[in-house]
Amino acid sequence: MDGKSFYIYTFGCQMNAYDAERIARFLRGRGWSAAPSAEAADLVVVNTCSVRAKAEQKAWSLLGRLEPLKRGRPERLLAVGGCVAEQEGGRILERAPHVDLVFGPRAVERLPELVEKRLRERKPLVAVGTDEESPPEAEALPGEGPAGVSRYVTIMQGCDNFCAYCVVPHVRGRERSRPPDRILAEIQAYVAEGAREVVLLGQNVNSYGAKEGWGPFPRLLAAVNEIEGLRRIRFTTSHPKDLTDELATAFGRLEKLCPHIHLPVQSGSDRVLAAMNRRYSRRHYLDKVARLRDSLPGIAVTTDLIVGFPGETEEDFEATLRLLAEVRFDGVFAFMYSDRPNVAAAGLAPKVPPPEKRRRLQVLLRMQEEITAAIHRALVGTRQEVLVEGPGRPLRSLEGKEGVSRWTGRTPGNKIVHFETGGPRGKIPRPGDVVVVRITQAHAHSLSGLLDES
Ligand code: SAH
Ligand code: SF4
Ligand code: F3S
Repeated sequence: MDGKSFYIYTFGCQMNAYDAERIARFLRGRGWSAAPSAEAADLVVVNTCSVRAKAEQKAWSLLGRLEPLKRGRPERLLAVGGCVAEQEGGRILERAPHVDLVFGPRAVERLPELVEKRLRERKPLVAVGTDEESPPEAEALPGEGPAGVSRYVTIMQGCDNFCAYCVVPHVRGRERSRPPDRILAEIQAYVAEGAREVVLLGQNVNSYGAKEGWGPFPRLLAAVNEIEGLRRIRFTTSHPKDLTDELATAFGRLEKLCPHIHLPVQSGSDRVLAAMNRRYSRRHYLDKVARLRDSLPGIAVTTDLIVGFPGETEEDFEATLRLLAEVRFDGVFAFMYSDRPNVAAAGLAPKVPPPEKRRRLQVLLRMQEEITAAIHRALVGTRQEVLVEGPGRPLRSLEGKEGVSRWTGRTPGNKIVHFETGGPRGKIPRPGDVVVVRITQAHAHSLSGLLDES
């Protein structure tokens, strides 16, 4: 296999990004190397997402665009992974006959083997398929991966919640947690490579280890908190129904745990929440937020929202707007409902017409923009601890200013900060440093400031 190269496209959530890193590590372990582009690669991997119709369309259109590449060099292999691969299986070969290999998220560890098999057997291969008990985890410890200040670590796979709109449990299978010793070893290895922050990933981290007896999640957090050299811990996502008091109070207790929680609410209407099978009420959600803010005043709270769920009325939508006003989220990710294969909501009626979904999305985003802007403005003049991630974009206004450089990082509350150093004799930060930045300006999606050298 020596001398062969690969190129990976990845879509979707952080779990897919993490899987893409693992794919790269497994391939490197078998002698493959990274190619600078798909054109230059012997193996092109497309790691797909299926969470909304648009995400799936992106995968199909990329596969279409890759067809000439395959035709131009038929011995080049095209492999499709991720959630569309799991959902469609062999149907991908019918619609895109130039694809050589289809593999689901549970076949990531076997990819190098599958590629070798495909090369030997010279016919398309499909490796999807689900829920055999979790296979023993293949080792993919870091080594030659992309070194970064902040790293993702998947702590559990799959989901058991079956929210009525969601394809994830159908494509990622049942919830399975990774053993704590593996997780801790992986984080230690990243820290040895220079990482200072980890983002623990799961569809519902609050039920980490529940089946395996490795929970509760705050216990894992406490163990991660002990890792020397690690500065910051984040996690995503928490399901509001399972957010325990122990987790809420962990924010005040564990010094490395960042003061930010992503807590998807989806809707502010009890009727819609019930139809979504979210298993909490608006009141319950507001109580959880209050509990978090008691434990750690000023904690940043972000959320996900869906507009135009089947049967959502104007009144339901207004309840969501009122929830936004009441909670004052630091940021929201809002989506128009889209039907997905096999999900319960696909059979629900009436559907909200697309122009109305678009209108609701715009109204909601406009309202949130003002809230985020006000929260950002309130930070102007404050000093923030920023974990430096890397150099920022050079600014024209800085040209000719000797020694001034521009950097990018995040505050503990997860706000992106672009900042400048002071001048010729100023300190030059390095990625991985935690520095103090005086915030001078607020923007819609970020802040800017000056390195504080006092
Ligand atoms: N496990 C996470 C979310 C994973 S999916 C959780 O429970 O919060 C990320 C987001 O995509 C969801 O929070 C939801 O807001 C959105 N989403 C999922 N399915 C969708 C669909 N069919 N249409 C529109 N948005 C959807
Ligand atoms: Fe989807 Fe709900 Fe599971 Fe999140 S908790 S992945 S929204 S089914
Ligand atoms: Fe998409 Fe699969 Fe993640 S559907 S959001 S890539 S779990």
